[in-house]
Amino acid sequence: MKGVRIAPSILSADLTCLSQVVAEVAGAGADWIHVDVMDGHFVPNLTFGMPIVAALRRITRLPLDVHLMIEAPERYLEAFARAGADRLIVHVEACPHLHRVIHEIRRMGLRAGVALNPATPLSALEEILPDVDQVLIMTVNPGFGGQAFIERMLEKVRRARGMIDALGRPIELEVDGGVGPGNAPALVAAGATVLVAGASIFEAPEGPAEALRRLRRAIESVHIE
Ligand code: DX5
Ligand code: ZN
Repeated sequence: MKGVRIAPSILSADLTCLSQVVAEVAGAGADWIHVDVMDGHFVPNLTFGMPIVAALRRITRLPLDVHLMIEAPERYLEAFARAGADRLIVHVEACPHLHRVIHEIRRMGLRAGVALNPATPLSALEEILPDVDQVLIMTVNPGFGGQAFIERMLEKVRRARGMIDALGRPIELEVDGGVGPGNAPALVAAGATVLVAGASIFEAPEGPAEALRRLRRAIESVHIE
């Protein structure tokens, strides 16, 4: 299947040589770089903030797909935009005023995405879907790399695809968590257009570039009805 994007998540990358690993995955055909921002409140882990996004901006031209797993993300939208994010994704569970947040992101000229935790029903998207550029379905509970894919999420991806198709707008459907060459074909067949992959790329024994190519090969022959 052509046109599916692969977004390596640097959460699992060797940060001592970030520019080298980013160059490696870019050279192997990565489409976006996925950056997992965690605040220790919304999720039980702490990771990166604006300085890493700014550093990435200086080392790559690939779009930076910034996944905000933080409470009250509206406090930092402008800072992430200034740091060089291209796409900002906020969680519906963290945003009581989601409509305002999405419009704020788009007002700054960035692509706006919404993410749903595994237990959050797709009905949470109903009123906001016409306003977003991207939907991210969490296929693990957010907070850590290297977790096992929750099988039941495949069906959720299929239903999300149905909602997007019914709307008739080109909204990216991204899956995040436990994605690798084993389940990527089924996810793409279910309608995913962006595959985030952390451990399956950066912890692969063959190295990130070869792992990314393997993921690409796995989805090459998938045909969508
Ligand atoms: C999890 C993050 C993911 C994570 C995916 O909370 O949102 O982006 O890096 O990593 P893997 O592919 O290892 O599950
Ligand atoms: Zn993520």
